[in-house]
Amino acid sequence: MGREFLSLFDHWAESYDDTVSGHDEQYEEVFRRYPAILKEIVERSGQYVLEFGSGTGNLTAALLREDKKVFGVEPSDAMKKAALQKGIPNVFHDGDFLSFPAPPFEPDTIVSSYAFHHLTDEEKKQAIHIYSNILHSGGKIVFADTMFQNQAAHQAEIDKAKAAGFNQLAEDLGTEYYPSIDVLKQIFEEEGFSTSFYQMNDFVWIVEAKKRE
Ligand SMILES: C[S@@+](CC[C@H](N)C(=O)[O-])C[C@H]1O[C@@H](n2cnc3c(N)ncnc32)[C@H](O)[C@@H]1O
Repeated sequence: MGREFLSLFDHWAESYDDTVSGHDEQYEEVFRRYPAILKEIVERSGQYVLEFGSGTGNLTAALLREDKKVFGVEPSDAMKKAALQKGIPNVFHDGDFLSFPAPPFEPDTIVSSYAFHHLTDEEKKQAIHIYSNILHSGGKIVFADTMFQNQAAHQAEIDKAKAAGFNQLAEDLGTEYYPSIDVLKQIFEEEGFSTSFYQMNDFVWIVEAKKRE
């Protein structure tokens, strides 16, 4: 479920790491400070980490370097293959945000970078409900993704992308399910989490949601 954008990633897998390095002008701002964004997630994570949408494994590798146990969930075979080709240990499993195998440990942290916007807001709610049942009090969800303060800010970025001739970015911003911060905050709060949001560039914010006692 929530896999409607999967074919995009099967095609993007080979060049994805060039994009995150800033080589695609349209996505330069989206991926500005990418290493710092992954580092922030790692620093906010506990020892037992469940990761969704691991892609080519950049966040996975950063977590493993800090000796954390990681259970990666990724629906695209091509992305998993790209991660393994880089020599990242095979901690990856087929699945998605809503349907995934049980990790062999109790996660204290659930992480994701640049992926949660593939779910509609209704699916996001279902996902957070599932995670609320997995995590104990004090457990955390740490997600980095494109999100906007409100609808007007979202529309302003679409208009800016169009004016710059960044048609692919404009279409992406208009069709995928980038949330507004208020909606996301409400979803987390309703499922028993306290949230903090940190802006990392013009598009990407980190949400840290801690399960209340
Ligand atoms: C933009 S990439 C991000 C990869 C990596 N997390 C990073 O930060 O570079 C988005 C990833 O989410 C995956 N994805 C797409 N739909 C998904 C879903 N419903 N559940 C989990 N992952 C999904 C894609 O296959 C892709 O690997």
